[in-house]
Amino acid sequence: MTRTSLTIRQPDDWHLHLRDGAMMEGVLPHSAAHFARAIIMPNLVPPVVTALDAAKYRDRILTALPEGTDFEPLMTLYLTEDTDPADVKAGADSGLVKAVKLYPAGATTNSASGVADFDRVRGVLEMMADTGLPLCVHGEVTRPEVDIFDREAVFIEEVLDPIRRTTPGLRVVMEHITTSEAADYVATGGDDLVATITIQHLMLDRNAMLVGGIRPHYYCLPILKRGSHREAMVRAATSGDPTYFLGTDSAPHSKDTKENACGCAGCFTAPVALSCLAEVFDEAGALDHLEGFASRHGPAFYGQPVNDREITLEKGDPIEFPGQIETEAGPVTVFNPGRPVHWRVL
Ligand code: NCD
Ligand code: ZN
Repeated sequence: MTRTSLTIRQPDDWHLHLRDGAMMEGVLPHSAAHFARAIIMPNLVPPVVTALDAAKYRDRILTALPEGTDFEPLMTLYLTEDTDPADVKAGADSGLVKAVKLYPAGATTNSASGVADFDRVRGVLEMMADTGLPLCVHGEVTRPEVDIFDREAVFIEEVLDPIRRTTPGLRVVMEHITTSEAADYVATGGDDLVATITIQHLMLDRNAMLVGGIRPHYYCLPILKRGSHREAMVRAATSGDPTYFLGTDSAPHSKDTKENACGCAGCFTAPVALSCLAEVFDEAGALDHLEGFASRHGPAFYGQPVNDREITLEKGDPIEFPGQIETEAGPVTVFNPGRPVHWRVL
């Protein structure tokens, strides 16, 4: 029998860019409408580096929440070569800081303050291994000679595996994985290594971005890969394996900065993320595993309770994609996978 309705515990988003100010006010309601909690990325300008920065950013998010919305921002700190282990520990002990984010210097949007010399963050990583605080990793090398399509696989060999070997016990989220190499590596990493997967990497390959014209709203980092890697992402996500869970990496940029001779990286998926996800799981015949991926595996890794509330998704005629949302920081184009999606959140 074909399923046309699905009720699951409310999902969380384990990788989300909310930005700040007018942009945040515009995009926040779209995440809060569907997700109970989200891991909030710290790549503001300037970045969220100290526990005090995170406390203030959290207050700004809570203030911007629409009346009557229940949404819990889970704060992260941006790891720099000057990060003070004691400050991170105090932030984590107080319950404010849920993870630390590692951006290799220059890897992606607003990552100029990221880490170049890994020896300089050894103290922080060791403290994190002792206390169990997760490290969220943007897994791409930035050496100019490494091809953009190889940067994730090279990162595993050159950076991630060495860090994990020299820091036993470090709990790592390899974020927004895009390759079969990453899915395989994470699968062999035991309980301390997990991965998040985005909507766009489940639905699209690089042909979608480049064949018949360049589609800037599909440009994100890590960049979309070939179809066989997309298939590996779908297999991992729909497997039921608690190693993999949803992190949308919804990353809003104003339309003019995307449709530009040097366009920004990031797909704004938040408003349609759950509809798209249900479509992917339905196509894979894996609707039974959707709740695990969207609502259970993330909390299990982060030591958080599963949400009490439930949401219901219903299958019907293809949904209308919003096109764009208006914000005081300009219009933001909403992700559209370019094919019909039949699931809506009630
Ligand atoms: C993100 C952004 O815009 O902040 N962009 C993206 O393409 N994913 C940064 C990131 O997560 O890499
Ligand atoms: Zn991101």
